[in-house]
Amino acid sequence: MEIVSYRKYYKTRFGEMYFGKCEDVLLDYLSRPDFKPINLLFTSPPFPLNRAKRYGNMTGKDYLEWIGMLGPIFKRLLATDGSIVFELGNAWEPGVPAHSTLPIEALLELKKSGDFSLCQEFIYYNPAKLPSPIEWVNKRRIRVKDSFTRLWWLSNSPYPKANNHNVKEEYSQQMKKLIKSGKYNSGKRPSEYVIGESSFSKNNGGAIPSNVLIASNTNSKDDYLRYCKDNELEIHPARMPKEIVGFFIKFLTDENDLILDPFAGSNTTGNEAEKLKRQWMSIEASENYIKGSIGRFQSAQLL
Ligand SMILES: C[S@@+](CC[C@H](N)C(=O)[O-])C[C@H]1O[C@@H](n2cnc3c(N)ncnc32)[C@H](O)[C@@H]1O
Repeated sequence: MEIVSYRKYYKTRFGEMYFGKCEDVLLDYLSRPDFKPINLLFTSPPFPLNRAKRYGNMTGKDYLEWIGMLGPIFKRLLATDGSIVFELGNAWEPGVPAHSTLPIEALLELKKSGDFSLCQEFIYYNPAKLPSPIEWVNKRRIRVKDSFTRLWWLSNSPYPKANNHNVKEEYSQQMKKLIKSGKYNSGKRPSEYVIGESSFSKNNGGAIPSNVLIASNTNSKDDYLRYCKDNELEIHPARMPKEIVGFFIKFLTDENDLILDPFAGSNTTGNEAEKLKRQWMSIEASENYIKGSIGRFQSAQLL
């Protein structure tokens, strides 16, 4: 029989970080008497590259099989009105200027194996992203920069807990003026749609955000980076911007709900959950990244 090992590494007021493979930790968690369903599983799994990368990414069919194995586990973990939001980076076919369809196949595999509903697709646009793949974009100039990735929102039903009031954005100057004047150019649009006064000039306390989220990781002075540099720890190369994590936590959960990141890396998810007073559980297979992630918290207790 395979010997499975993992351990809790540190805890904070709201959460716990586990060191090990998420498959092992989660199967065990499901059978624990203190099991509590997950309200939001937010994560960026290892990317489906067609070539092996530093943290042991699987390729092609193996990746799809592995994702297919995770679907039913995630399903059992999730609260009936819970959500999964996961980011999958882009991938290219090796040696040719052709986009891989593996990330899309991975989405379909996860959706099918967990029998999930696809609630919505999000784009995470990073304007500061460096040009890649270098060969096709910079050298031969036959492709343009890949500057967004997709986040997929899945759930057990098409009606998971969600409230876009919690993620309202500041109104544009134009909208602020409109609300002040109370005058809206109401009436029939070319589409035959009739727009009433009240629906558009009413102050709802902020604008409804779109599914294109813009963020970049250009801040070189945050606590995490400083801590890693001071302690000579490896900085995680694929950190999720905290604004993106925070957006989904506010949109899809309430205070004290439980948030899981099974591929936590530098634990951006746990840290945002902590700030927003949500309970969290994070899992990471690389001890180096866990050591660095401690720098995100003011009072992490080593276990
Ligand atoms: C894309 S990174 C996540 C980065 C994270 N969102 C952040 O903001 O730092 C994926 C992480 O999954 C970890 N990983 C890979 N396979 C794993 C597994 N089976 N269980 C747990 N973690 C794993 C890798 O070490 C890597 O740190």
